[in-house]
Amino acid sequence: MTQLEQSAAPGAEWWRSAVIYQIYPRSFADASGDGIGDLPGITSRLESLKELGIDAIWLSPFMTSPQKDAGYDVADYRDVDPIFGTLADFDTMLAEAHARGIRVIVDLVPNHSSDQHAWFQAALKAAPGSPERARYVFRDGRGENGELPPNNWESVFGGGMWERITEPDGTPGQWYLHIFDPTQPDFDWTNEEVKEEFRSILRFWLDRGVDGFRVDVAHGMAKEAGLPDYAPVADADSMGGGEENVPYWGQDEVHDIYRDWHQVLAEYDGDRALCGEAWLPTLKKTALWVRPDEMHQTFNFPYLMTPWDAKALGSVIRESLEEFGKVGAPSTWVLSNHDVVRHATRLAFTDDNPQGEGIGPLTPNKPDTAIGLARGRAATTLMLSLPGSSYLYQGEELGLPEAMEIPDEFRQDPTWFRTEGKRYGRDGCRVPLPWEAGAPAFGFNDTGASWLPQPAEWAAYARSTEENDPTSTLALYKQLLRLRREHDLGSGTLVWEDLGADAVAFRRGDIHVAANLGTAPVELPANAKFLVRSQPFTGTALPADTAAWYTAS
Ligand code: NOJ
Repeated sequence: MTQLEQSAAPGAEWWRSAVIYQIYPRSFADASGDGIGDLPGITSRLESLKELGIDAIWLSPFMTSPQKDAGYDVADYRDVDPIFGTLADFDTMLAEAHARGIRVIVDLVPNHSSDQHAWFQAALKAAPGSPERARYVFRDGRGENGELPPNNWESVFGGGMWERITEPDGTPGQWYLHIFDPTQPDFDWTNEEVKEEFRSILRFWLDRGVDGFRVDVAHGMAKEAGLPDYAPVADADSMGGGEENVPYWGQDEVHDIYRDWHQVLAEYDGDRALCGEAWLPTLKKTALWVRPDEMHQTFNFPYLMTPWDAKALGSVIRESLEEFGKVGAPSTWVLSNHDVVRHATRLAFTDDNPQGEGIGPLTPNKPDTAIGLARGRAATTLMLSLPGSSYLYQGEELGLPEAMEIPDEFRQDPTWFRTEGKRYGRDGCRVPLPWEAGAPAFGFNDTGASWLPQPAEWAAYARSTEENDPTSTLALYKQLLRLRREHDLGSGTLVWEDLGADAVAFRRGDIHVAANLGTAPVELPANAKFLVRSQPFTGTALPADTAAWYTAS
């Protein structure tokens, strides 16, 4: 065959070196014109992704959902939500992607369902202690009349982690657990029926031909037995990235689930892959998710969270290669996704901004857009030279900044509502993409509707604008992806080089890579011949906030 084959030593599995582009379906392209992106919209724009030069796409959830958390609240795991299209639209999109040599990964949300899922609705109607309730985490409350939640855990989106129900006879009843929004009840993963159901859901999508799954909250499905009280330390990261022993994050029992799923995927041909979304405190622990019989990849969030600092960046790369290498897994690399402030903004932001906090109109010391873009381009230039698999998030190839001025009335992230506006949340990185500068909704659709308003200045970032500009971020991404492929940089080893305390520098075969994270220029060898520069400069002094690939022989 086929365009899908590519070299990816060691082992030749495609996911070891792939560049995977995240599509956030509601904001990618909108064929129906209702202001929300959809599957036919994705199909219509696949050619532009082929031109970009990525290997695979990962689609955030498009399954049936009341959209209380933008699709991460699934009511039917085996169907497409009408706002995104139909199963037939999915099959067409998949076939069209494969025909272009692009693999397709779908999002699987196994920690929780929507409260509108048939199982949860049945649980509400059933009695305490029934098999229907046993699929979720229902408990009696504490206090004299069960009026207090079963423990003190706090939801990632703010507020408590328990919701009390009214029993079918009208009396105040049991409580159920929800790590996220109350509309997202957690499954009980000690329950055999839950396990069997998800094996079947995996097979449903594998049978349709998907190449793998991004597994949502892959560190949260097992809870410590007895659900003990837990007091977060003051600077705890709500997604679990900041501290060691949290009774609902990173429990050992999750690994059995992934060993089981690994076997399910192994029944299929074509190196189908699992990528875990696991926010864990250390890379050492993160690497446990990708032992040879578990997942194939896991997101490298310590890398994503690293500030623009040469020492910190060098050491996270070193440690990633070491820890993932020990278990025989490729490292992954990622700078942006639908949950964090876009890196073309974040890297210029010096204030503390934990995951999910977001940036909005009242945020003090908002980052400088030009510095952010320069750093964003340099960071990507460095990332795409690293061995392993890289994830890109839609719009970063245009250099999109975070939308910082969204008026309150448009906000949809449950974080905003659960914290009564104290945290802006993630809407700022989810604004629909600009495709054509002069068109309605910048070509997101042809009606001008857009579920979040697009900033007027995004005309300058529209694909149509950047396509005609050899210095654009789009041109840079295309060049990086082409060179990465030509030189097989996703595979192989990395040799460190020393260009001083402000630089991260290494060699990939004949290609030298350097990034300047300081404020003064960094001298490169006088005979450096540049393959790519993150922004234009002359001579061999690498300016601040700039990265380059070069040969020097
Ligand atoms: C992680 C997803 O990336 C995020 O968007 C979602 O809100 C939570 N998991 C809950 O599913």
